[in-house]
Amino acid sequence: MSRELRAVFDRLDTTACVVTTACEDEPAGCLVTYVTGASLDPARLLVLTSHENLTHELVERSGVVAVHPLARGQQDWIRHFGFQSGRDVDKFAGLGWTTGETGAPILQDALGYLEGRVLASLDCGDHTARLVEPVAGALRAADAVPLRAWDVYALGEDDPRSRSLFPRKSGRPAGS
Ligand SMILES: Cc1cc2nc3c(=O)[nH]c(=O)nc-3n(C[C@H](O)[C@H](O)[C@H](O)COP(=O)(O)O)c2cc1C
Repeated sequence: MSRELRAVFDRLDTTACVVTTACEDEPAGCLVTYVTGASLDPARLLVLTSHENLTHELVERSGVVAVHPLARGQQDWIRHFGFQSGRDVDKFAGLGWTTGETGAPILQDALGYLEGRVLASLDCGDHTARLVEPVAGALRAADAVPLRAWDVYALGEDDPRSRSLFPRKSGRPAGS
């Protein structure tokens, strides 16, 4: 994608989330900014995972996900879940988590979560979109302010796979 298109692309913005899954007792999870509500009634989410990621592979096999919106103050989770792969480190060691109804790991320190089952998948290019039916969820910290993807980029914490394309701190619009 050209730098010009990318600059607008990133301003579509979303909430930065940690998406988890588990297959045969192996948990996985990564930072995802391509996530959004897709229908109110019935409730549906869209979650996109990169073909490079362990999390993508395990979602493909398990058909379940849990989506945890990040809150301001949880910047350490950006690096923990977004800059290293579960192929190299155990991301769940030392974190509080339980097993959800679907079998996906539920992170205790998240502001809340939605977990659900994949109803359909669409190969979009280097990511696959999953249409997810939420089956359970809880808001645990009603006052927490969600951490926006744009805030993550402004911290300089861009997706390492596309570092050269993301806007730098100076690219933030005046007044935002
Ligand atoms: C700001 C940011 C946004 C990201 N957005 C996504 C995304 O929307 N979907 C995705 O699959 N990976 C995304 N990633 C990349 C994964 O979080 C990253 O590659 C992670 O290390 C994969 O871990 P895994 O191999 O354990 O699944 C993003 C990373 C960062 C830093």
